[in-house]
Amino acid sequence: MSHPTLPPDLDDLLVAPCMLNDPFPVYDRLRNEAPVAWSQRWNAWVVSRHGDVEASLRDKDNLSNENRQALLFDGLAPAEREELSRLRHYFAQKDVIGSDPPDHTRMRSLVQKAFTPRTVASLQPRIEKLAAELIDAAVAQGEFDFVADVAHPLPVILISELLGAPPADRPLFKRWSADILGFQGSGRTAFASAKVSQQSLTELFTYMNTLIEERRRAPRDDLISVLALAEDEGRTLSRDELLATCNTLLTAGHETTTNLIGNLVRALLIEPDAWQAVLSSPRLIPAAVEESLRLDAPKQRNFRRIKQAHTFADVALPADGMIFQLIGSANRDPAVFPDPDRFLLERPNVRDHLSLGAGIHFCLGAGLARTEASVVLARLMERAPRLRLAGRGFTWQERVQFRGPASLWVSAT
Ligand code: HEM
Repeated sequence: MSHPTLPPDLDDLLVAPCMLNDPFPVYDRLRNEAPVAWSQRWNAWVVSRHGDVEASLRDKDNLSNENRQALLFDGLAPAEREELSRLRHYFAQKDVIGSDPPDHTRMRSLVQKAFTPRTVASLQPRIEKLAAELIDAAVAQGEFDFVADVAHPLPVILISELLGAPPADRPLFKRWSADILGFQGSGRTAFASAKVSQQSLTELFTYMNTLIEERRRAPRDDLISVLALAEDEGRTLSRDELLATCNTLLTAGHETTTNLIGNLVRALLIEPDAWQAVLSSPRLIPAAVEESLRLDAPKQRNFRRIKQAHTFADVALPADGMIFQLIGSANRDPAVFPDPDRFLLERPNVRDHLSLGAGIHFCLGAGLARTEASVVLARLMERAPRLRLAGRGFTWQERVQFRGPASLWVSAT
């Protein structure tokens, strides 16, 4: 048993600019030199090999999702912590993603009702209509930023509709989602972005509270009505749990899907012949979506709180620390995926990627995200078969936790 610490030069790389656009050489070193090790820079245990990341995601006995963000506030001054009391209160609440059994089992069985394969299939016509509107308008411009015009608006419109918001309020959801994640994605807490997050979270909760009351009085055929009225053998979601779950659905369902759609189109355009191969054989669309999920995990890093001291991969992990599971690294582990840095349309085991998690917290929106990406790609290929990267190219968004283009300029002509 050992207590390994990352070599200082490798640890420094975790906070270097290269992590934003090309973290993969760093991941290679982590897997080879220190697969489970303490990072001074991230203030967490870092796990990078596929087998270990999967085992860690599945470990519900030693690891916890409850109050896992609390440690993020540790580095702040007492006055700053005080000012962020509402945000800290929110993170202390349990919701479907931020809970362990038995609460998690109860909440997941309720939220799951809104994400059955049948419900997702029933959303397909709406997704197709939305994709057609956005893509047709974008293609008409000739050259456009695919992220701003399609990949970003589509998931936020869909999730705000699912949450019951009228179209006029969509810009609010867009802003709230960006603000709230701006803090969560930053790794270490900066007071200024945490305050912005707190403000937006408060606004979102006030808004959702009103909406929940409306739906309790007059239910409609939408997800928020399902959740507001959810009853399973008499067990319901408390108001705090429901609000926290709304926030999770908004943030989990938006940026990650935007990243998936942006990464997918980018990969097809830069990998020689990939766009053409899918264009001539649309049955390859699901394989392309899956390979994109593997190659560029939209959420590069997941995390858990260590509930009790235990030994993991021969390393002694003390209680109460954080463990960072590097999904982006696991998906490029050559022990599982040969030639891992290539985008290959025929990978027999592509579904072994960990981009959607594993175990009891496996992504509830997986079917929805895959459908959104497939529908967008099909429409894009139909309307812009000769799509190519335009002169302005692409930039990565500047967040270590997520991977996706901030902009992706393409030409449809
Ligand atoms: C490509 C897009 C997506 C990616 C990469 C993604 C990724 C993930 C991951 C890695 C987890 C596991 C978190 C953990 O173990 O702590 C997760 C859970 C979850 N995701 Fe997603 N997600 C995506 C889309 C969505 C969408 C569209 C929704 C809903 C609208 C959604 C809702 C959820 C929920 C509710 C959970 C928590 C499930 C639980 O705790 O039981 N996700 N997602």
